[in-house]
Amino acid sequence: MKVEPAKSLRGHIAVPGDKSISHRALLVGAIGEGETAIEGFGRSGDTESTIGALRALGVTVHEDDVDAVRVEGAGLHGLRQPEGPIDCGNSGTTLRLLAGVLAGQSGRFELTGDDSLRRRPVDRVATPLREMGTQVETADGLPPLVVEGGELHGIRYELPVASAQVKSCILHAGLYAAGRTIVVEPLPTRDHTELMLAAAGVRVTRRPGRVSLGPVDELRLGSVQVPGDFSTAAPFIVAATLLPGSELTIHDVGLNPRRTGLLDVLARMGARITALHRHRNGGEPVGDLEIHAAPLVATAVRPEEVPLLVDELPLFALAAACARGDSTVRGARELRVKETDRIETVTTALRSLGIRMTAQEDGFTVRGVPTRPRGGAMQSGGDHRVAMLGAVAGLVSRDGVDLGDAEAVAVSFPGFFELLDSVTQR
Ligand code: S3P
Repeated sequence: MKVEPAKSLRGHIAVPGDKSISHRALLVGAIGEGETAIEGFGRSGDTESTIGALRALGVTVHEDDVDAVRVEGAGLHGLRQPEGPIDCGNSGTTLRLLAGVLAGQSGRFELTGDDSLRRRPVDRVATPLREMGTQVETADGLPPLVVEGGELHGIRYELPVASAQVKSCILHAGLYAAGRTIVVEPLPTRDHTELMLAAAGVRVTRRPGRVSLGPVDELRLGSVQVPGDFSTAAPFIVAATLLPGSELTIHDVGLNPRRTGLLDVLARMGARITALHRHRNGGEPVGDLEIHAAPLVATAVRPEEVPLLVDELPLFALAAACARGDSTVRGARELRVKETDRIETVTTALRSLGIRMTAQEDGFTVRGVPTRPRGGAMQSGGDHRVAMLGAVAGLVSRDGVDLGDAEAVAVSFPGFFELLDSVTQR
């Protein structure tokens, strides 16, 4: 696909429901009581993987509309062992969060996925689940992950990496474990699981740096209103910031502070972004974002900030390339085990567009030049966030970008290019 340069982004948009929250609403709804109605559901390749996995486990999911889904709760112990492996597609969140739920079921469950997912580490969930009393097998630390539920007991677990997926997996298993389950985080990560479980009636105790819960008798969600996905809004935020004359409003987007690190980083680079109409929805902060273009200056992203913008770091690299001065990211080794090795794929892609960038083991350095990057040809490598990066790079470039494997965007937002076109001025 060829993405032509743009003049500016102008208009009002809303993005699909948050992917992280949509997965959690499906999973908690599935082991809940009664029906859970999910409104503003974020339909994507990944959330469809969760629906597919739950159906394989015997759960009834009604898809009333693209963004309206109902789950019939099977109860805490109601998931059934399917005939074959459960396909989680490209979705690490599906595989890791579901593993915690399956630890509490009776049966033997095999979780697998596509080529990318089968290259991503699962020992990070296998280790704590084993400590809790689950029998777990992996292929040398990689999927397929086989989980056999048993009598679980609570543990105190210090996460070796700051990962919301691992924290969530352990908390899910903790719902079935005797005694208390305590997760200690090295750095704060997204807390959607804590908020979703609390909304379902679980007494979740939160202290700085740790979260704990005990076993429950039942979960009940009722209904969930999913806010717009900040990570899907992010390409629009960066494009509108970089293209002079832009004026863009994104309505009803999730503004959970554990997700909006990009806003803080862009603010200190000089961006003009205002949050309006802030309110809460089921515990989740929501609001509108008004973005005006602004010239940027370089900055350093610190290790403790990384979990707050982990999925937005590819876009940060592009913003940094258009800022005045050299920018850096450190403490982001986790990028190497995302859908692709994002330190590698982003560095290769942006370099081929004329951007001067070097990769380090745990981050990268970008030479910023406050003019349009040249453009050229790049590959997404099948990674949805890199495909979206390529689209934004095309808009802000001088010559446009030939984007290979652009359809990877469907993993998080199938309608991405249509929405982008609707606000692009050429
Ligand atoms: C997610 C957590 C993050 C993030 C992923 C979604 C979640 O992964 O990169 O896209 O929904 O919990 P880690 O927790 O492994 O960093």
